[in-house]
Parts: sequence; C-alpha cells; structure tokens
Amino acid sequence: MTDQAPFPQSPFHAGEQEAQDRVGKRASMEAFGKVAIRPFMPEQHRVFFEQLPFVVLGSVDEQGWPWASILTGGKGFITSPSSKRLNLAARPAPGDPLQTSLKTGAPIGLLGIEIPTRRRNRMNAQVIEKTDGGFSLGVMQSFGNCPQYIQTRDIEFIRDPAAPAEKSAPISFTELDQAAIDFIEGSDTFFVSSYISPANGLTAEGVDVSHRGGKAGFVKVDGNTLTIPDYSGNNFFNTIGNFLVNPKAGLIFPDFETGDLLMLTGTVELLWEDHPEVIAFKGAERGWRFTLDHGLRLSDALPFRSQFGEWSPNSLMADDWATSDARAKAEEQRNTWRTLRVAKIEDESSVIRSFYLEAIDGQPLLSYEAGQFLTIRVRPDGTGSQIRTYTLSSAPADPAYRISVKREPGGIVSNHLHDNLIVGDTIEIKAPKGAFYIDALEKRPAVLLAGGVGITPMMAMTRHVLNEGVRKRYLRPLTVFHAAQTTDQRTFAQEFRAAEAESNGKIRYVSVIGHPTEAEVAGEDFDASGRIDVDTLRAYLVLDDYDFFLCGPSSFMQAMYDLLRNLGVADARIFAESFGPAVLSRRVDAQVQLPAQPPEAEMSVVKFEKSGFEQKWETGDGTLLETAEAHGLTPDFSCRAGSCGSCAVQKLSGEVAYRTPPTAKVATDDVLICCAVPAQGSSTLVLDL
Ligand code: FES
Repeated sequence: MTDQAPFPQSPFHAGEQEAQDRVGKRASMEAFGKVAIRPFMPEQHRVFFEQLPFVVLGSVDEQGWPWASILTGGKGFITSPSSKRLNLAARPAPGDPLQTSLKTGAPIGLLGIEIPTRRRNRMNAQVIEKTDGGFSLGVMQSFGNCPQYIQTRDIEFIRDPAAPAEKSAPISFTELDQAAIDFIEGSDTFFVSSYISPANGLTAEGVDVSHRGGKAGFVKVDGNTLTIPDYSGNNFFNTIGNFLVNPKAGLIFPDFETGDLLMLTGTVELLWEDHPEVIAFKGAERGWRFTLDHGLRLSDALPFRSQFGEWSPNSLMADDWATSDARAKAEEQRNTWRTLRVAKIEDESSVIRSFYLEAIDGQPLLSYEAGQFLTIRVRPDGTGSQIRTYTLSSAPADPAYRISVKREPGGIVSNHLHDNLIVGDTIEIKAPKGAFYIDALEKRPAVLLAGGVGITPMMAMTRHVLNEGVRKRYLRPLTVFHAAQTTDQRTFAQEFRAAEAESNGKIRYVSVIGHPTEAEVAGEDFDASGRIDVDTLRAYLVLDDYDFFLCGPSSFMQAMYDLLRNLGVADARIFAESFGPAVLSRRVDAQVQLPAQPPEAEMSVVKFEKSGFEQKWETGDGTLLETAEAHGLTPDFSCRAGSCGSCAVQKLSGEVAYRTPPTAKVATDDVLICCAVPAQGSSTLVLDL
C-alpha cells in the first residue's frame, strides 16, 4: 500500500459495523468508509490542522480509563511535514492525565475543530516521537466530520499558551458536586473520548474523540450519572461502535468563560431507539448514560476565552432534557383539553389567516407529525361550545403551533376566529393527531397536490422535509402543485418559493391559478393556469415512482384521485386528507384485501363508564356517538365521518364494527364513535365516556 492508497480492508471494527447494521446502513457505509477514511491526511486536512490554535485529544491511562483533553499551543503550534505525520509543539495542561499517557506507541484520537466556522476533521493516530517541546503523531485513519450541532464562538487568547500561568492545583473527585452538576447542565458543548483495544477481543486498536453539542441542558445529570442524547450523524458510529465493545468514556466540559476544564472518566450504558427517554427527546436517535468513576477539575487551564456566537440550527431543532421530560409528562394528557395563547396572527391571503399558538402552562407543546391536525374548541357568542379541526401549517421543529384558517361563508368557527380572536386570547386545543403525514426520510419522491386551503398540511410537510434535510442530510424530493382560484387567494407562495430556493433543486413549487388577471404573467406571477390536469403533471414530473399526497375540497380530491388512478398510479401510493364529512371514494387495487369488518351486533348493552349509565342498543340504532348524544352526553366530534379522529374514545371492553371504515388512524384501544356500533358477539360494550 502506498502512502496515498485507501484501506484494502474494512475501515470499521465489529462494534461500528454492528451499530451501522442497526440503522440499515452497513453496506452503504462500508463503501463510503473505504473512500472517506484514509490512512493519510489529504492536503486540505494538513492545511486545516496547521492553522488551529488548539485540538482535542483522546487518550487512555494506565488503568484503562479514557480521557478527553484540550491541547493548546496557539496558531502555528501544529505542523505537518508529511501526509502521515503531525508535529504538535505543546504540552498537556498540568494535572491532565494526557501528560502520563503520551508515550511513544500510545494510540491517540485527535479532533481538529474550528469553532468560529464549525469546520472539523478527525484522526486516529499513534505517538511516534516525543520531544522536549511536544510530540509527533503518525496517522492511522484520517477523515472529515460534518459541522452539525456546533455552536460558533470567537476565540481570544488572554496569555501566551506556552507561558506558565498562576493556577491552583488540579482537584480530583469521585462524586459530582453541585457546581459541577450546574455547569454540566448549562453546557452546550463537550467532547467525548472512547477506545477499543485487543483487550476487547478485537485485532484493531484505536482511540476516537469527538464533539457533542446541543441546546444548553442537553446533558441530564442525576447524581453521578449523565444522560446524553445521540443525534443523527455521519453513520460512522465511531463512538457508539466503541461503546458497544468497550463501554467506557472520557468526557471534557470546557468553560469557555473562565478557562476551567471539567474532565470525567467512567462507564457507559447505551440507550437504543426504543428507550422511552430517547423516544421522548426530540431529535435523539439513541442515547447513552455515563456513570462517573472519577474526575478532575483544572482551573484556568485554557489560555483563551471565547464569546458565544450563534446556535447551530441542528441544536435549536432538538430538545433539552427539561423540555423532553416535561413533554413526556404532558404526553399523558394527550387526550385532554389544554389552553393555549394566541401569540401572533398573520394574514396569508384575502381569505386565510394564520394563528400562532403557544403554551401558557409552562409545559412544552406536544410533538406531532407534519400534516397532522389540531382539534380546537371555542365558544363563539350565543352558539355554545364548538369543536373544529385545523391542519397545522407549522413544522414539528417550530416553537409554536400554527393553524391557517380559511374564512368560510357562514362558518361559525372560522368567522369567529377571523373576526374576534386577537393576540393574547386563549383557545382550547387537543393534541395533534391524524393519519395524513409525510415520512421525510422515505427515498421515494413525493408529489403534493393541494387545492385552496388544502395547502396547509403541504406547507407543514415541505418545511419538515427541509428541516430534516438539515438534520439528517437527506432531503426527500418534493414537487408541490398548488391550485388556487386567484393569486389573491393563494397562500404561502413566498414560503414555498423560499423552501424551493433553499433545497438545492430537491423541492419544486408549481402555482396553478384558476383565473389569473390580465396583468399577471405566467412564469412570474404563477406557473400554470386553469386546473391541474394530465398535461400539468406531465409538464413538471418525469417518469418515476412517486407517493402522492392530496388535500383540498372533496371535488378537488376526487378529481385528483381519479386522474392519478387513470394514469395507472396504485391506490396504495395515494394518501389523502379531506375536510369535513366528505370522504374520498377509492378504487382499491385488485390484489389488495381490505380487512374484514365484523358484522354489527343484533343486541348489545353499551355502558358509558365515566357517565355512570348503560343503554340497550339494537340493530338499526344509531352510531355510538348518536346513542351517547341521544342520552344527553356531549362527546367531542368534528367530521362525524371517521376522517378526523376527534371523537376517539377509549374502549374498556367489548368489540365494535365500523359502519363506514374510518380513514383516521385509530389507536388499538380507541373507538371512533361517530361511525362505530357494537359488533356481533359483544353483549356488553364498555366505553370510557
Ligand atoms: S368525528 Fe371525526 S372521526 Fe369521528
């Protein structure tokens, strides 16, 4: 192998391969790793390392504990005489375990990070020489790293890094004191070192050190245990892979304001994707718990200070633990009404107005999928309580819920919202739900077909796909067709154009205007006129296998559905959301078997558990909703057709049959009472109502 040759064998050890396997990336990462991980530094990396004022190093002490350290020398302290060698003219801070572990032949992990610009490159290396003023590293593996979750900071040296400074002696500890806990819980950045060695049953040996960042509060401390979310990354799984074979970690938390360093070493337990804390933490793909064995506090060890610059967009899209824990608690209240405050109102078109809703109870907003709807309850004067559902036009990563409401002629609720609701008013909501949402990571391109205000879920989907593109580095291709009568009635055109511009050609927005004015110009004010038809689709879509999402008035939805089916699109590829009671009439693919519905009961007793009464039900009687209403109960409902999910009630025992198969998603123990009746064989049906 020449100096510049790639690895002939896998660059990943068994632990990394196992972690890649878990996310289905094993084959693609093997191919990518052989290109991206090199046994030498490309010229670009050498130049990058040479201009850094500090690097982060990972090492292992004689007892086998890993440590992460910060080595500072000021600009020019690193030189690279060849693609296989870095010379570092600096010594570790007094008290840093790196002082004793820097021995010739010792494995070292190195992270070069330029915090002001978020650039970073990494290397696994070995000490090949020690000198009076420093040491040299020989490159084993060299690779670049993405800039995610790095908060920018300016770096300013306050003293010569080589000059001795007045410092108090390092303090060692085996328990975190309150000051350490507070500092960790307020940190937005730390570095983690991990390693594997022949002692772990592997032939390979090496130390990795990497950056971890998030919102302040992304590390939770409980006694001596830290819980850390693991976000989507480069899929190399260097750290997680090391933990799988050797569950130990060295952590360093730098205090950029005082120059203090908090260094910890201890053991690790991995939390996988199905762990409740991982599920509740927005942005986490997995996580890990670190338990302290021992640690060190080095005062004023850094010769520089740094001013916070700006948050990484990825950090802002993820949770902190306080929010995540509060959301997990709030999830228990998913089916109860909650009061939110109107934080902002914006007119989107001549007929559509957006309302931004924020929490006032100190709890986070419940999470949702892009495309789901919110159930709201308002009390317009003289009409009593009114319940409606409105799709969220905000994306799940946004800080507030946004509903965009069309003023409907004669619509009690839409007119009430447009005419009476002002900023500061409150409104009752139930947690978002609905089966119409997009999977941003699906590889198949998606086509969103919206009529009128049916654009609202498409706005949420587009923003979500764009956000996930930043977070996961995969942007699902989208083409959005938006039909509106006039440009005046069209909503979100600018937001779609902005998404289009940001997407690097992955998102396209096609505005179809039914009746453009004479002054409006095709190609500038809109893209096509008239209706969306075969020619419109052919003009913008190349032959491919797409998922189609439809939303709009029922006539629009049916026309689009029939158009797609006539073009040979499978029913299973068409996802639809309709407003109100209208439900799409589908032509199911010949080979698809619909789940069999049990027949209706001839006679049953329906017990309304919370209300404390029971009622006889027999063939020909109304739905469970009608039965409840007939006896003075006022359950929630909106569409009365099985498409919105607002009428879901928990079923405590017995079975139901659906007169109209619901299109809304129904939880296993729930019943959509607007279209269900007792099923044959259910002599008693008990509802939590
Ligand atoms: S009221 Fe909409 S699903 Fe029952």
